[in-house]
Amino acid sequence: MFDTFYMSGSENFEEKINILEKGAKEAVNQASDLARLEKARVKYLGRKGEFNNLVKELPKISEDSKAHIGRRLNSLRNDLEKLINEKLFELKDKLIKEKLQKEGIDITKPAKGFALGHLHPLTKVERRIEDIFQSMGFSIVFGPEIESEYYNFDALNIPKEHPAREMQDTFWIKNPKSEILNPKSHLLLRTHTSPIEVRFMEKNNPPLRIIAPGRVYRREATDASHEIQFHQIEGLMVGKNISLANLKAVFEEFFKNFFDKRQVEMRIRPGYFPFVEPGIEVDIRLNQMSNSKSQMSKWFEVAGAGMTHPKVFEAAGYAPGEWQGFAFGMGLERLAMLCYGINDIRLFYSSDFRFLKQF
Ligand code: FA5
Repeated sequence: MFDTFYMSGSENFEEKINILEKGAKEAVNQASDLARLEKARVKYLGRKGEFNNLVKELPKISEDSKAHIGRRLNSLRNDLEKLINEKLFELKDKLIKEKLQKEGIDITKPAKGFALGHLHPLTKVERRIEDIFQSMGFSIVFGPEIESEYYNFDALNIPKEHPAREMQDTFWIKNPKSEILNPKSHLLLRTHTSPIEVRFMEKNNPPLRIIAPGRVYRREATDASHEIQFHQIEGLMVGKNISLANLKAVFEEFFKNFFDKRQVEMRIRPGYFPFVEPGIEVDIRLNQMSNSKSQMSKWFEVAGAGMTHPKVFEAAGYAPGEWQGFAFGMGLERLAMLCYGINDIRLFYSSDFRFLKQF
């Protein structure tokens, strides 16, 4: 008798759960805005909602059915919570889209492309030069742009009052220490990359092969082929039995690679630099093809060079007469001008987009 009563109680209960489930799901699915959804949530899952009312009736259920009904209620609560969350997400998403549409923002439109920058033509040329010299066994080293008077001049056999200092007049930097008359403490913006030669040799023994690219500064009037700041690539090779023939061979190999398939001629003239003996200047000219008639361009000075002076080895602390070496200093801008057919060096530093975009 008792059993039958509780049996029918649990069936009743299941029926109530089914009705609640049906009603709750319908209310959630039909909620067309956030307020209606919240109302449905409170009605069914709220503290005083229909679900909790059913839970309160659980004690009336027979012990046998409690576990089963309990599981059913738990799974129904999980289902309803999941359904409400999904609906919440859907309604919020709809709301954002409506708002964006009202504001005229189309989020499905592809994003505007942004212009990716590229390397400056001088950097490109510098890297190409480095690659070529590396393939010939040269290492790349660097030196400071703010240099001491000693390394920029004295160690390179250019003592004070030497006329060669005037050829490379520069920007001096006020340094309180320069009150002491010591050329190592007088500071300036380096006028060439040659100071790296002594700096490197002081710390390294021959045989050696290096190039040293970098920015240099000179106080001079600018024109189409002269800037007050420009770049040089210093080169130094020291070993036994090194001669001018090695220097010429290295230059020829370099120009052949640098100008690729273009015909290039090289000319060597005597030149004076106190830190080499003998000294040379290197000019090149490109064989340019125009309207199928071959035209020669002008000779263009690209480097100073020569055999390292014994005084420079002495400054570096090398034993006299033991080593020979050659050194050169090439103008990076001049090579880039020839490479790309640029007729004014000032364009490199003009920051003119129309110019830079071409590389
Ligand atoms: C020198 O600076 C020497 N240190 C080069 C050197 C190194 C000689 C090692 C011997 C041994 P010069 O002043 O000629 O030399 O400059 C070298 C190159 O830098 C020139 O051939 C030219 O290509 C470039 N150059 C010189 N002055 C300028 C300038 N104002 N603007 C742009 N390029 C320049």
